[in-house]
Amino acid sequence: MDKGTCCCGCIDEKEQMLESIMQKHKNRKGALIPILHEAQELYGYLPLKVQRKISESLDIPLSEIYGVITFYAQFSLKPKGVYNIQVCMGTACYVRGASLVLEKLQERLGIHIGECTEDGLFSLEVCRCVGACGLAPVMMINGEVYGTLNPEKIEKIIEKYEKQGKVQVK
Ligand code: FES
Repeated sequence: MDKGTCCCGCIDEKEQMLESIMQKHKNRKGALIPILHEAQELYGYLPLKVQRKISESLDIPLSEIYGVITFYAQFSLKPKGVYNIQVCMGTACYVRGASLVLEKLQERLGIHIGECTEDGLFSLEVCRCVGACGLAPVMMINGEVYGTLNPEKIEKIIEKYEKQGKVQVK
């Protein structure tokens, strides 16, 4: 089977979209960052095959692209879950027990920072201050802020998302 074709022989829709993203920005100055942003929106992360295509299209070494992706926290090399959990490790949250929040989530979900659960439902990241220090310790799930966390509260929040996730899958 040719690269870029699916089992029925049609051209991979995402690859076509990636191609048009690259064409749109190609001759602009500083094209790499906006291309990486849009490619990540499209794929949910930046897999090696996408990095290769961008490298070929912009004539930028793969190592440079990798360097940019790993430098900026908003870019991800691993797939994210349906629900992306970000635990704030800013000073206020850290002082009020962010490490315990992280520990509880890792134990409950069976994953480490930067990983995704096997069912693809949750991924786990750490982030800097999200501007809700008064509610420390804080985490965000797909941008929604949850504060004054403790193990019981975390359990309830995760259960709520597990139920929602199962409804979505039906
Ligand atoms: S330090 Fe966590 S919200 Fe500010």
